[in-house]
Amino acid sequence: MKNTLLKPIKIGRMDLPNRIFMSPMTRSRADNPENKATPLIAEYYTQRASAGLIITEGSQVSEEAVGYIHTPGIYTPEQIEGWKLVTKAVHEKDGHIFCQLWHVGRMSHSDFHKGKPPVAPSAINAGDKSYTLEGFKDTSTPRALTIAEIHNTTQDFRRAAENAITAGFDGVEIHSANGYLFHQFFVNCSNIRKDEYGGSHENKARFFFETLHEVGQAIGFNRVGVRLNPSAHGFFGITIDRDTIPTFEYVVERLNDYSDLAYVHFVEPMVPVDNVPYAVKEIARHFRPRYRGTLIINNGFRAESGKRVIEEGLADAVAFGKPFIANPDLVKRIDQGAKWNRWDESTFYTTGPKGYTDYPVMEG
Ligand SMILES: Cc1cc2nc3c(=O)[nH]c(=O)nc-3n(C[C@H](O)[C@H](O)[C@H](O)COP(=O)(O)O)c2cc1C
Repeated sequence: MKNTLLKPIKIGRMDLPNRIFMSPMTRSRADNPENKATPLIAEYYTQRASAGLIITEGSQVSEEAVGYIHTPGIYTPEQIEGWKLVTKAVHEKDGHIFCQLWHVGRMSHSDFHKGKPPVAPSAINAGDKSYTLEGFKDTSTPRALTIAEIHNTTQDFRRAAENAITAGFDGVEIHSANGYLFHQFFVNCSNIRKDEYGGSHENKARFFFETLHEVGQAIGFNRVGVRLNPSAHGFFGITIDRDTIPTFEYVVERLNDYSDLAYVHFVEPMVPVDNVPYAVKEIARHFRPRYRGTLIINNGFRAESGKRVIEEGLADAVAFGKPFIANPDLVKRIDQGAKWNRWDESTFYTTGPKGYTDYPVMEG
């Protein structure tokens, strides 16, 4: 009997051949002055085109959105042209590909912003590291966005989504997880605003929903997915408190209003939660009953656990990250119950093809 992961699934307007999705992963190969996708990046994604859906690495929506070196953007004509190489090649292999839209907010360094501070909900340092041209540096203390700037940022996301469609993507994923800009608005440790973008659950989620609305209006909600990490803590500068999970419950329940939305994508906890109060141990189990649409789950899944999470009705598809780095033919390996290559962490963020496009595929 076929692994449930290999059953087709409909997402938005796409009929996808399987439920083995490629998780968004920054690989820092856009090491050119324009931060555009290159033929090498196209080759990497094309090798993985048998994934039910590829979600690209985070791609900054503006110059202000960047926080790491060599990450691709989706806001200039050159970047659109670069991504066209990728989408064309993936589509020629019958693949499907969404672009992850990214703004790192306070997870940045003033080196990226001509010496000026990065922007965030409030002027609170993430206390983390940013990877700059001169290596790892402490994140800079950000300045709080004005209300006008919040509105402008929503427009940056809208334009980036339109650019993604121009570049040939099948849709976009709004990166609202892992301690980046939207996540910073959701949680009290980074958002102490006193205006309509801070305080209540509704206020903390306002920027996210305004952006989702604009992006969905621009390209169609059935081409928009959202990624949430409703429990990240101790990672990427996020700490949780008794408000965190209720805020995420509010967000997830409200996402039901967007009945056309392509999907919601959850990341299971990044760190053990047993000793952390107010954390949720199993995101899928907690949030599945609260969301009626298509749900993708991620973090640490393997062939068996991925199959099980779908069969238990806790998710509709599984995103695999590191396994896809090391196994371009992951779908085939799951189909045949074959062994997986092990990934090499030392080449996650380096330049060139090593550890990027040179992982072996199975014979035959
Ligand atoms: C090298 C690397 C880069 C990543 N970059 C991103 C990213 O750009 N956007 C994102 O949402 N998650 C990113 N992640 C998180 C992955 O999408 C995924 O959540 C994580 O690897 C756990 O899944 P896995 O156990 O299947 O690898 C990254 C992870 C890795 C290993």
